[in-house]
Amino acid sequence: MTESSIATPLGRKLQAQAHGLTKAALMYPIFITDVPDAKVPLGGLPNQYRWGVDRLEEFLAPLVAKGLQSVILFGVPERKQKDAVGTLADDPEGPVITAIRKLRTLFPGLYIAADVCLCEYTSHGHCGVLFEDGTIDNPKSTARLADVAVAYAAAGAHCVAPSDMMDGRIRAIRDGLVRANLVGKTALMSYSAKFASSMYGPFREAVGSAPSFGDRRCYQLPANARGLARRAIQRDVKEGADIIMVKPGMPYLDVLGDARELAPDHPRAVYQVSGEYSTIHAAAAAGVGDFRSFVEESMTSMIRAGASLILTYFTPELLQWLDEPRPA
Ligand code: PBG
Ligand code: ZN
Repeated sequence: MTESSIATPLGRKLQAQAHGLTKAALMYPIFITDVPDAKVPLGGLPNQYRWGVDRLEEFLAPLVAKGLQSVILFGVPERKQKDAVGTLADDPEGPVITAIRKLRTLFPGLYIAADVCLCEYTSHGHCGVLFEDGTIDNPKSTARLADVAVAYAAAGAHCVAPSDMMDGRIRAIRDGLVRANLVGKTALMSYSAKFASSMYGPFREAVGSAPSFGDRRCYQLPANARGLARRAIQRDVKEGADIIMVKPGMPYLDVLGDARELAPDHPRAVYQVSGEYSTIHAAAAAGVGDFRSFVEESMTSMIRAGASLILTYFTPELLQWLDEPRPA
């Protein structure tokens, strides 16, 4: 390292290997309930709420004014009974489909992604459809997920994002979009390398999706399985994913680097998950360091490793901070 190359602000700027963080690189995960006028604070996720569709305007208008460009929707059904196949996922009056329609009219320029999974809607809390013995019925699961994805796309989602991790779901969803003549209109973002992580706790509490028995280790990747993650990324590229995602973010930057190598021509998304968000909040609150510095360094790390899109609960703060750059 020659010190002279980083001794000036411009010199440091020139060393940046990737484009810096922009507003267009931020996608905000939001929780929608079927209680239309609700605004309920989420225990484990500071400053985040479950929102009813009637309150989306007051919630998002100020952020859109600050440059918010995309959101990803998670539905939280609270009023109707869940069942074994997750019928509520594509209920035309359910939270996600209602919110897609509403957001398309309220904010015509906003890019709307919808998370596709069954765990928020099944009585057992697993991400797919099960056999009697509690194991995953793969063909039934992928068929059901494809129906849900097509319903979201038909309602106007610009992007559908399956987070279930069932084998063959990308092909099934792609085929469904082709049959419904929606493939040119709706992007398919795959949670390709999604690890069975200890950092989803606050999210599961927020949406009430903790499995009622067992865990997700049969379909999410083991934390040490870098090779399996590489294969999953290649598989999803072959099956027709438009965007490849790695999740969680900071503990898996090597995998994000692998995604850049294996899918150099695909946009790459990374999900800074609920546990990462809460950890940074807790650390800053405990006086370990400066909140803004923690958040910005986490963004820099993910951009550097190859992210083109970052799903983060820090989106509101970042939209503000991007307008208030600190001295170099
Ligand atoms: C469910 C899903 C999860 C997250 C996104 N979609 C949790 C899980 O797999 O248990 C986690 C997001 C977060 O922690 O912020 N398919
Ligand atoms: Zn799930």
